[in-house]
Amino acid sequence: MTSTTSLSNASELRAKIQTLYSAEEIQQGVANLAKEILQDYKSEDGIFAVPVLKGAFMFASDLVKELNSIPLELEFIRVSSYGTGTESSGNITAHNITLPNLEGRDVLIIEDIVDTGRTADWLIKFFTNMCQARMVKIAAVVDKPCRRLESFKHIKPDYSCFEIDDKFIVGYGLDYQQEFRNLPYIGFIEDIN
Ligand code: IMP
Ligand code: MG
Repeated sequence: MTSTTSLSNASELRAKIQTLYSAEEIQQGVANLAKEILQDYKSEDGIFAVPVLKGAFMFASDLVKELNSIPLELEFIRVSSYGTGTESSGNITAHNITLPNLEGRDVLIIEDIVDTGRTADWLIKFFTNMCQARMVKIAAVVDKPCRRLESFKHIKPDYSCFEIDDKFIVGYGLDYQQEFRNLPYIGFIEDIN
């Protein structure tokens, strides 16, 4: 069973959310990121976009619209590493991976956030070594470099809208115990840990 926040607790927590990035700031960030991405991917080869569920669903939807000038295919992947609360379980679980042959393709992993770096490291290795993609880059809404584990210090999203310090954030796809993914802005809750 996945732990969820009770409704009364969720509304109490919602009242404590402080906005970090407004919906407008996010839209601007996504548009800027798309411009950077379009400089690196060639229209002859297109982009094979892989949004990572669940957290990246909203970002992916906004980002791919900004990438409409280039051929783009898309397949979702679902990976989880968080247990409950705000701490990672330490293990990566990949669910229902159905992908075409990606050998020689240019992959763009679409992530919500790079935190410890564990998921990003796993994904990069998976697409590079197992799928034999030609190019593998990561776009994340948020980068939290201060949280990177020692063994993943080299992991850095190729494209990110925002860099933050050690805060647990919610909204724009990001959850706390499966809640708050539907907020159009990104916020944080003081003392959530
Ligand atoms: P990792 O620790 O870099 O492997 O990140 C794993 C996942 O943890 C991310 O894809 C998010 O789903 C989740 N995560 C990390 N930091 C936050 C946060 O501040 N808020 C909500 N989810 C987070
Ligand atoms: Mg999550």
